Amino acid sequence: MATNDLIQKKIQDLAALIHEHNYRYYVLNDPIISDQEFDLLLKELITLEKQYPEFILPDSPTQRVGSDITKKFPTIEHEVQMLSLDNTYSIQEVVEFDERVQKGLEGNKYEYTCELKIDGLAISLVYENGNLLYAATRGDGKIGEVVTNNVKTIKTIPLRLQGDVIPSFVEVRGEVYISKTNFEKINEERIKQGEEIYANPRNFASGSLKLQDPREVARRKLDFFPYFVRLKEDEKKLTISTQYEGFTWLKKWGFKVNPHVQLCTSLNEVQTYLQEWETKRFTLDYETDGVVVKINSYAQQNILGNTSKFPRWAFAYKYAAQKAETVLESISFQVGRTGVITPVANLKPVLLAGTTVKRATLHNAQEIKRLDLRIGDSVLVEKGGEIIPKIVQVNLSKRPTNAQPFEFISHCPECNTALQISQTRIHYYCPNTYHCRPQIIGRVIHFVRRNAMDIQAIGEEKVAQFYDAGLIRNPADLYKITEDDLLKLDRFGKKLAENVLNGIQKSKTQPFERVLFALGIRYVGETVAVKLAYHFKSIDALFSATIEQISQIHEIGEKIAQAVVEASKDPYYIQLVAALKQAGLQFSIDENKTTQKITSNKLEGLTLLATGKMKHFTREGIEKAIRDNGGKVATSVTKKLSYLIVGDEPGESKIKKANELNIKMISEQEFLDMIKD
Ligand code: IVH
Repeated sequence: MATNDLIQKKIQDLAALIHEHNYRYYVLNDPIISDQEFDLLLKELITLEKQYPEFILPDSPTQRVGSDITKKFPTIEHEVQMLSLDNTYSIQEVVEFDERVQKGLEGNKYEYTCELKIDGLAISLVYENGNLLYAATRGDGKIGEVVTNNVKTIKTIPLRLQGDVIPSFVEVRGEVYISKTNFEKINEERIKQGEEIYANPRNFASGSLKLQDPREVARRKLDFFPYFVRLKEDEKKLTISTQYEGFTWLKKWGFKVNPHVQLCTSLNEVQTYLQEWETKRFTLDYETDGVVVKINSYAQQNILGNTSKFPRWAFAYKYAAQKAETVLESISFQVGRTGVITPVANLKPVLLAGTTVKRATLHNAQEIKRLDLRIGDSVLVEKGGEIIPKIVQVNLSKRPTNAQPFEFISHCPECNTALQISQTRIHYYCPNTYHCRPQIIGRVIHFVRRNAMDIQAIGEEKVAQFYDAGLIRNPADLYKITEDDLLKLDRFGKKLAENVLNGIQKSKTQPFERVLFALGIRYVGETVAVKLAYHFKSIDALFSATIEQISQIHEIGEKIAQAVVEASKDPYYIQLVAALKQAGLQFSIDENKTTQKITSNKLEGLTLLATGKMKHFTREGIEKAIRDNGGKVATSVTKKLSYLIVGDEPGESKIKKANELNIKMISEQEFLDMIKD
């Protein structure tokens, strides 16, 4: 063979070998070589490809690095559509609902359940033989996103059902939510960081379930209340015939059922429940915006049926947003890490929705103008789904005669620098990037955060202490701190100093995407940083890109692209990057450390389902392999199924059904052959 042919063959062989090892590592979870050996193979391929770029294979593992990093969640079709509820705001409408039920049930007796309507995010959990198979969001009601790993971090969701009677299949639906206490803590933290707050617990819960890192989800302490159970029609072990009975089973299986569910035998009892919880709901540590009323008997629910959108056997009674009038005493200003000034209304304390309200967000200068807010005004404060109240209106009839139009501050409340107005003319900001205390402290706090450089030994207090001692004026200064510097500070001993210095040193190994996020460029959050890092591979490439090139990336808009281009020309970021590079931080993707993923479209257009124990896969692993190769995962055997993958001790009913429907059954090995490179 000619030398060139030999080299081409070597490149092909190496690529195939690396694919194989990747597959064993990521899909089968069964590597047969060490990481070091793997790295050597990859390096060899990279070197050869550099010398002979004409032989680079289009699907070479080096080309695939990070290709799937947008990491969208796989989707799944709900076997039974997840409907939403018709909303009712008045008792009159409740009476009318009851009249329709009476008619529909032709004079037969019926009962209702009353459940608090928890303000969170609906989720569907599917258990097979007692094991949590997957968890999916509601999505559009028909197709949801599979977020199993994130949901598994919620401690009140059993991973395995408890008790003696475990159905072969059960779907449990319910609400993922966050407690008020935790939600408020998180928002306070965000205000301090100059970040936008979460408008309501629902946004927070849904944002959390879409995070890429389950460890971060775990930290968010989400919770869950179930409200729906569905068994298969051929379930032999048990029957459940009412909503209320469903709750007793949910309890037996280990779920935390909301203790305020009530069975009502008359419309009168329903009305009492609605009235009772109108104010009592504020004593709870989770947000409820109403009550869900359902017909108790499943048989009667079936008789009443559904419209295309809503069930005819249930409705949500929504409480109106709570409002209160109080006086605007003053407006104060907070300076965030990007220099943006956020006005905050200081109110005469007033009782609203169970808490004393003293402050309200005003968002920006425009909002003050829009409301024509004046100090001394009587204002209407509202608390809807949002936990932080907002001013909705000024009561002009009570305006003091001497009230003056509010003049937004012209100078920074912290460093007295003249403020500038943003291009969009919405925000004022302090341009004193280098010397404004809260900006610098905010940026360093952001830099050391757990999901950025993760320097856990340094918290807010220490950042302020370092700033006040003159040790830091930007994040790069952290890397110049010496033991002597620390030992001079209050409350610092040798041990603590060592701890801090070790943390700083260790952060140098954080990958590029984290460093990029840690820089604190406006709009470059965690996910955006990952996308940019993997697309451009280095800070130099990113900082020489144009707005067009950046906004070409999937889900990266012009606003983000513009912010990145601005940062690339901003002396602050240029100096910061240079100093951090000098300190030894990672400013490019280390090809050998990236998370590669085997993907193909070999299963495109096919729907597969696995039953029984597999040799090479866990239940989740095989589903992931199906999806990663372009296939769809089914939840049951239906006509639409292309293949049933049969492992050891398969589900009898599945095999029976597959035989009846003439579905092709394949072994695990046959499946492996299908997806093999
Ligand atoms: S029953 C067809 N029960 O409210 C039955 N929903 O507006 C549909 N929700 O998507 C849901 N608490 O996210 C039901 N006890 C409860 C609920 C509840 C909160 C949410 C759920 C649903 C939305 C409907």
